[in-house]
Amino acid sequence: MSIIPESSVEEVRSLVDIVDVVGEYVQLKKRSSNFVGLCPFHSEKTPSFNVNPRLGIFKCFGCGEGGDVFSFVSRMESLSFPEAVRVLSDRVGVVLPEEEAPADGASESESIYHSLRFAARFFHDRLTKDPGAQTARDYLQKRGFTKESIKKFGIGYAPDEWDVLVNEARANHIEEEFLEKAGLVIERKDESGFYDRYRHRLIFPIFSHVGKVVGFGGRILREDDQPKYINSPETKVYSKGRILYGLYHSKNAIRGKEEAILVEGYTDVVSLHQAGVQHVVASSGTALTKDQINAIGRYAKVIILLYDADSAGLRAALRGIDLILEEGLIPYAVRLPDGEDPDSYVQKNGAAAFETYLKEHRQNFIQFVLTNARIAGSMNAPEGVASVQRTILQSVARIADPLNREAYLRSAALSLDIPDNELRPIVEGYIKGGKSTYKRPAVANSERERTVRNLGPALDEPHVVLQPTPAEKKLLRLMLEDGPRMINWIMSRMALTDFTLGPSRQLADELVRQYSEKRFNRANFLSPNTPEPIRLLASEVMTTTEEPSDNWGKRLINVPKLDEDALKSAASSMKFLKRHRLDEQIASVRKQVLRAQESGSDPRELQINLNKLYQIGKHIDSGSFLEGPKY
Ligand code: UTP
Ligand code: MN
Repeated sequence: MSIIPESSVEEVRSLVDIVDVVGEYVQLKKRSSNFVGLCPFHSEKTPSFNVNPRLGIFKCFGCGEGGDVFSFVSRMESLSFPEAVRVLSDRVGVVLPEEEAPADGASESESIYHSLRFAARFFHDRLTKDPGAQTARDYLQKRGFTKESIKKFGIGYAPDEWDVLVNEARANHIEEEFLEKAGLVIERKDESGFYDRYRHRLIFPIFSHVGKVVGFGGRILREDDQPKYINSPETKVYSKGRILYGLYHSKNAIRGKEEAILVEGYTDVVSLHQAGVQHVVASSGTALTKDQINAIGRYAKVIILLYDADSAGLRAALRGIDLILEEGLIPYAVRLPDGEDPDSYVQKNGAAAFETYLKEHRQNFIQFVLTNARIAGSMNAPEGVASVQRTILQSVARIADPLNREAYLRSAALSLDIPDNELRPIVEGYIKGGKSTYKRPAVANSERERTVRNLGPALDEPHVVLQPTPAEKKLLRLMLEDGPRMINWIMSRMALTDFTLGPSRQLADELVRQYSEKRFNRANFLSPNTPEPIRLLASEVMTTTEEPSDNWGKRLINVPKLDEDALKSAASSMKFLKRHRLDEQIASVRKQVLRAQESGSDPRELQINLNKLYQIGKHIDSGSFLEGPKY
């Protein structure tokens, strides 16, 4: 096993978000600056397991287990320390040097980060302390930015000179080589030295999602200076397509709200935060990329695009929608009133009005395309209508998840007023014609599933979102496919608690509810409005069919007639599931009996319980529980 250099370990540590990692095993809730949950290392009913993201540590006050993100993963997955570092390095894309590779690479990044940190502090100090920064301070005040916002986002001022940063850095023993590699200075044409990239500009530091300064955006303070913003070039530590402005400050709010608002500008992010709307990020200057979408996808699946009402903004929104669909996330678009941007709107109307506006005006991509086409008058001519329909159906074809796609297809059918079975072949044609990238859903999901499943049933408490068993998935599928009669047949013989806590039980619960309220509707379960875990599970159980030739698109309309086999299959799944739950209970009571005997207390009551459980077992094995209402 090669030895991993300390600098690489630290790089991984700084990039990994401990809340993300632990969150894949433990359901965490935010409590002041910590996150708490049920400890995965011992049995407990009230949470005493804490994660502190600022310090990057976890600690259980029940069993005493604690450590950093590496110790968490190594305990959880039974890995050695270097193995845990490697697992986490893959996750954040840090390439660990092999045995004989030099560690130079890592130290160069460190020097670049150091220069960036230094510059950020320098600019911020100048803004707050330098008499020469009065223009900048006046400007910020005029725009309504508070001291707190300026501090929180580290806003700064680059003085109106050619070499203050160069000189200040030299005085602090920072080599020009690293200033240049950090994108802070530019070499003079005659190679006689370097000059500052940012002069007389307002400085917005750009943070990575773990809070490291990776670059800057510098805004003009004189109208006739050009361009309006000067941004850091791509550097070893700043790749624009991967960074979202504001993600570091917004990620917890995004996680909490389960959605992210995507705006265009630095000032929009700062202004919304200041007003109290904190689940907001900006793609700042570059067109939205897949990496950026996936960066948001780690915290929420819904992205609300907030674009200018001009044609450039519209084009950007349409492109963003397609990319978001392709990455398996859910896009909405909102068009602000003409002439407003998020900053101006929220400053005028306040956060509550802003959020209400977003709720009331958010459109799914179908509505969004149609509205804009109507406004632009494209719907007045037949060829315009056809082109709009094409745009919509091509976007539908980009949706990787078949059930999600089907749900949107139906929504398109309604909006376009064309029967869905006329639209379906067109969409299928786009998919086959390779006009869309047909891909599996976002990696994050399968990764999460894998880690959760690896945990297995070894725990006797539901600390984690346990995976539903194949038997219950089959039951859920039968009920979803066949509807009310099957729901009644199965659920009059099963308890909700037979279903695994989490999405599986929620889905079963929802089936029962819709059945009893006589409003069962299969498509509802696939609609983007259905809570994500239920929708994902419903899609999963409905897509995994035994017959590979199954075509769900057709099945959704022509539900196959149910035969004897379906009832038999349901009966055997029910039996299996009941037995499985019972065995879990028996094992747990047996353990309690042993514990009671060890501690000298009376196990008799427990033994009575155990006998009852054995009786229930006989009942299950005989199949007598199958008696009851007819199908
Ligand atoms: P805006 O022109 O909307 O700027 O550009 P803004 O951030 O809202 O600034 P104010 O409110 O006018 O002061 C949106 C974003 O596009 C990028 C920047 O990231 C900016 O925040 N941009 C804009 C550039 O990179 N370069 C430019 O020259 C202009
Ligand atoms: Mn603006």
